[in-house]
Amino acid sequence: MDRIHIKGGSRLNGEIKISGAKNAALPLMIASLLTNETLTLENLPRLADVSLLARILGNHGVDYSLNGKRPGEDIDSGQTAHLTAREIVDTTAPYDLVSKMRASFWVIAPLLARAGEARVSLPGGCAIGTRPVDLLLMALETLGAKIDIDAGYVVATTPRGFVGGEITFPKVTVGGTHTAMMAAATAHGSTLIRNAAREPEVKDLADCLNKMGARIHGAGTPTIEVTGVAKLGGARHSVLPDRIETGTYATAVAMTGGDVLLKGAVADHLQEALDALAAAGATVSSDNQGVRVKRNGAGISPVDIETAPFPGFATDLQAQFMALMTRAKGVSRIRETIFENRFMHVQELARLGARIKLDGDTAIVEGVSKLRGAPVMATDLRASVSLVIAALAAEGETIVNRVYHLDRGFENLEHKLSACGAEVTRISG
Ligand code: EPZ
Repeated sequence: MDRIHIKGGSRLNGEIKISGAKNAALPLMIASLLTNETLTLENLPRLADVSLLARILGNHGVDYSLNGKRPGEDIDSGQTAHLTAREIVDTTAPYDLVSKMRASFWVIAPLLARAGEARVSLPGGCAIGTRPVDLLLMALETLGAKIDIDAGYVVATTPRGFVGGEITFPKVTVGGTHTAMMAAATAHGSTLIRNAAREPEVKDLADCLNKMGARIHGAGTPTIEVTGVAKLGGARHSVLPDRIETGTYATAVAMTGGDVLLKGAVADHLQEALDALAAAGATVSSDNQGVRVKRNGAGISPVDIETAPFPGFATDLQAQFMALMTRAKGVSRIRETIFENRFMHVQELARLGARIKLDGDTAIVEGVSKLRGAPVMATDLRASVSLVIAALAAEGETIVNRVYHLDRGFENLEHKLSACGAEVTRISG
């Protein structure tokens, strides 16, 4: 199993090209099931999750082909994929695949829309919490699906197709909003989605569905209106830049000091996190090239944060920000409000010398003047990358084990960091 070796102490200077967003790429790929024509996705990141989802979609009947590299394209250029689901050949999504990647549960809405039936494994718990799918099922039932649970599977049918309706989510859910939009796109009649997730990935999916012929208004706001259309067609769409990758490298620069341009990043997609970095002592600016983060001289100030649905501080950046706060001059409080178990990085950060106490949903981080390298491992991709950030500022050497977590969500991490002066290498095997 690969490991990442990091020798801490170098500042980061240079440019990092931000990849296409994993959490937009996955629902966009799934949307290809909604049409028998070709959906072409550009700027698709090279990630283990993207390859796994391509395999999963293949089981349902999606032909997936990737364009080779064109002359002049470098290692950081996104890929272009063509996805064609001429026919749905299998409406079952088995446990061994759905349990490997929760987002694959979202195939349920397009399978029902296209084939009128779906048998999709319940994903089960995961490293960051229980993560139920009750709200996704509520949305599907509201639009006319009949749902049973049988032997760990959701067995659903829509004998007369989806029928428009009013869905009010009691809690903001990204997957629930994706599911509701995909189900409503070809429903008979109109659908209103209230308390919808406002994440940029939701807007990106709606933009792509609209290019495919859907009529979706209001994505990016709490109320989305979908007027059902008879059929969706092919389209070409470019995946939006990854705001979590942006925030991760921005936090790394705040941690090590230096000056890095995050090329292609969109500041509006993570303003709250950038504001927190500025409060911690980084200088953050943005223009049409991307986001620039610098930190020189002065130390890191403690900043309290609380995770929240967009436009709040993203839960997917909580672990990284905690790594930064381990070196702050004082005490910070980090409250996780989205997932109940997303503090698995705390004990590993402690192995590097961090002082963190947990009090329910809040981590109290007492900044230390020095971290020291150690072997560490993590249970999910954002936790893993928080250890990389801590290691970049630690004295000595750190080995991050279980690198497959990083490969699920960060494209070319070691190349991107070493091109900016960090001593980061992958040890194969
Ligand atoms: C998406 O997960 C992301 N995944 C997550 O990123 C991200 O952390 C999360 O949104 C929140 O921003 C992808 O986009 C592939 P939710 P999702 O439904 O859609 C509860 C990463 O590291 N809930 O918005 O599964 C749920 O338990 C990953 O890239 C229900 O109670 O998250 C949570 O507390 C991790 N019932 C809250 O809602 C439901 O039916 C928000 O979850 C659904 C969700």
